[in-house]
Amino acid sequence: MNEFTPQRIRGLVEAAAGVAGQTDLSSLLRATVSTAIELTGAKYGAVGVLGEHGSLVDFIPMGMDEENIKQISHYPRGTGVLGTITRQAQTVRLDEIADHPDAVGFPDHHPGMHTFLGVPVRVGDRVFGNLYLTEKPGGFTEHDETIVELLAVTVGAAVATLRLQERLRRAALQEDRERIARDLHDSIIQDLFAIGLSLQTAIGHIDHDGETVRTRMSDAVDRLDTTIGALRRYIFDLRPPVWARPSLSAEIRRLVADLAEPYGIVVGVEIDCPPDTPEAPLTDHIVAVVKESVSNALRHAHAATIDVRVACDGDRVLVNIADDGSGFDADGEHGGLGLRNLARRVSAVGGEYVLDTAPGKGTVVTVWFPLT
Ligand SMILES: Nc1ncnc2c1ncn2[C@@H]1O[C@H](COP(=O)(O)OP(=O)(O)OP(=O)(O)O)[C@@H](O)[C@H]1O
Ligand SMILES: [Mg+2]
Repeated sequence: MNEFTPQRIRGLVEAAAGVAGQTDLSSLLRATVSTAIELTGAKYGAVGVLGEHGSLVDFIPMGMDEENIKQISHYPRGTGVLGTITRQAQTVRLDEIADHPDAVGFPDHHPGMHTFLGVPVRVGDRVFGNLYLTEKPGGFTEHDETIVELLAVTVGAAVATLRLQERLRRAALQEDRERIARDLHDSIIQDLFAIGLSLQTAIGHIDHDGETVRTRMSDAVDRLDTTIGALRRYIFDLRPPVWARPSLSAEIRRLVADLAEPYGIVVGVEIDCPPDTPEAPLTDHIVAVVKESVSNALRHAHAATIDVRVACDGDRVLVNIADDGSGFDADGEHGGLGLRNLARRVSAVGGEYVLDTAPGKGTVVTVWFPLT
């Protein structure tokens, strides 16, 4: 059992690979603790992350239930035996924590802990944090110590990789922002500036030379149109590529699920359109209509069911949101802006909006958008 058999080594390598494969720090640390518990048979495990001055800034415990964790007045402060590991950057393995000269005891409601294994996790030449395990029946062995130390090496390397990736991401983002600022300045701002100048000189001619002013003005309007066109193309190119954009169906499902979650209502969603239809910017209008109408049904209707349907039909898209809630008097005075904005948005793009509601009979919002 305590031998490094091929099976055990395989298990360790697989577990370490699983830990190293995590793509964010918090899942990495969680996977580390659960793997360490699994590999050693400890009852409790935790990872503590150290701040600049060696105190614990984050602590992720496992094996204890939430209730119990809440009862304990504070997370470990990183004094006592935990502090010893940090100071000496060395593994500590004990059969009885209380016997260690640095032991300071546990806060109230803390479960009793006796056997202990603590291993530092290094990132580069600094101690990033510590991995703690307690309560293995019969105590931790030298093998456990080796296994957890190997795991800690993997974790340290994985943390270093994550940090590097984060730095690269930030650098790329920064570079993008600088490029956008430069582009906007060099093309758009310069164009607008030139148009402004030309209008300003025209002011000097207003009283005596109407013809010059007229030519200048109409010239300025043309150039503004050209600049607006350039800006539009630029913004269009900035949008994520088609393959990286969520589909309308995915976007609506996610939106509706997020909105409904706090109300505990399941909102039915049915999307019946060919792939990649409709396209932006129409998709933005559809999402906005769904968002306002579903929010209203959730906030005001006390409905038992809410259903969203988006359907493409020839050259039109139907957006329909129906609830079986209280309904309301559509002619009455309402303080809100939501429905007014919705109506304006729909008519601005040549669509149709019909509100069908009355007190006691539920509400159906129907919108038709032209597809071209
Ligand atoms: N599905 C619905 N069921 C019941 N009442 C509704 C529903 N939708 C709207 N109402 C009523 O109509 C009023 C006006 O809705 P509107 O969306 O314009 O404003 P709001 O939701 O109150 O505020 P805002 O949308 O600006 O946050 C609401 O306050 C509510 O009384
Ligand atoms: Mg509203």
